[in-house]
Amino acid sequence: MTDLPLPTVRPSAPPGADGPLVDTFGRIAKDLRVSVTDRCNLRCTYCMPAEGLPWLPKPDMLTDDEMVRLIALFVRLGVRQVRLTGGEPLLRRSLVSLIGRISELDPRPTIAMTTNGVGLERLAAPLKEAGLDRVNVSLDTIDREEFLSLTRRDRLADVEAGLKAAHDAGLTPVKVNAVTMRGVNDADVADLLAWCIERDYELRFIEQMPLDAGHEWQAATMVTAAEIRAELEQRYRLTPLDGRGSAPAERFLIDDGPHTVGIIASVSAPFCAACDRVRLTADGQLRNCLFANSESDLRTPLRAGATDDDLEGIIRGEMWRKARGHGIGSPDFHQPDRPMSAIGG
Ligand code: 5AD
Ligand code: SF4
Repeated sequence: MTDLPLPTVRPSAPPGADGPLVDTFGRIAKDLRVSVTDRCNLRCTYCMPAEGLPWLPKPDMLTDDEMVRLIALFVRLGVRQVRLTGGEPLLRRSLVSLIGRISELDPRPTIAMTTNGVGLERLAAPLKEAGLDRVNVSLDTIDREEFLSLTRRDRLADVEAGLKAAHDAGLTPVKVNAVTMRGVNDADVADLLAWCIERDYELRFIEQMPLDAGHEWQAATMVTAAEIRAELEQRYRLTPLDGRGSAPAERFLIDDGPHTVGIIASVSAPFCAACDRVRLTADGQLRNCLFANSESDLRTPLRAGATDDDLEGIIRGEMWRKARGHGIGSPDFHQPDRPMSAIGG
């Protein structure tokens, strides 16, 4: 697997131009990820310290009106999918009505959410009704003890109930995201897959990225996509499927189908060349990449009375600065100061 080729003709249009949200490599942003809160009710070891993090103060967080105004602007600039993330997005009290308002935008974007599933049992049906189209639920193991040691909370049963409720509510295809950690859950990947196949959930494994609050990630101990595939192939026949587009997962047909499994080689085979994502944090900062070392403040100008044109200029400028790739593994790679929970998946 190699990185996808970048376009050879690089656009020369300045950020003040009309047209889609383009960067200097010709990539066009179509997928906006909005972190609606930095808080979480789990403490996954690859993400947060046991004691949690200093949460954003309420006045720093965007209100629903502010979020909807920015999302509407992005939709006008060509965004076609809005994914709500966290922290844990279900912890934002206004989530159902926020989704309702996003679903009223014209053109209506696809609305997805990445959640840890705790609390989804109660909210799946109202969220679907409000306009949510799909969910990705993070679940790294179906072993209760392992779940407890990974997330530091005994909530596996809540996640299982949340997944079932999402499926019953028609938030399909229900996707499960699993981060693989050496010596923790890497030996159980085939069990997790069997469990997901049985319930009609589409499982995707994600290579662990250096986004932990403790900055303890090490390339040498990361479980690679190739290792995950080999482990799954001990039990299943995997046939690669084509047509991945800008989707990060390489997908495989399992045995004779119809089920599939995805493996996201974020580190060992980055998909930065096909990236169509841009991120808005809960405190109104725009990030052109998970790994960006800078961001553009939209909240301050928004609150100071900026027009949509003013904000558009800032957004285009931020996209124009998007780097070629994340550079994990290169000597000058610098882990972002914000942890994953404050950026949003
Ligand atoms: N590396 C890879 N994936 C991560 N996630 C959280 N932290 C990391 C990390 N360091 C996953 C979560 C969730 C999604 C938002 O990203 O498990 O599924
Ligand atoms: Fe919470 Fe997600 Fe971080 Fe786990 S990975 S602590 S569920 S934000």
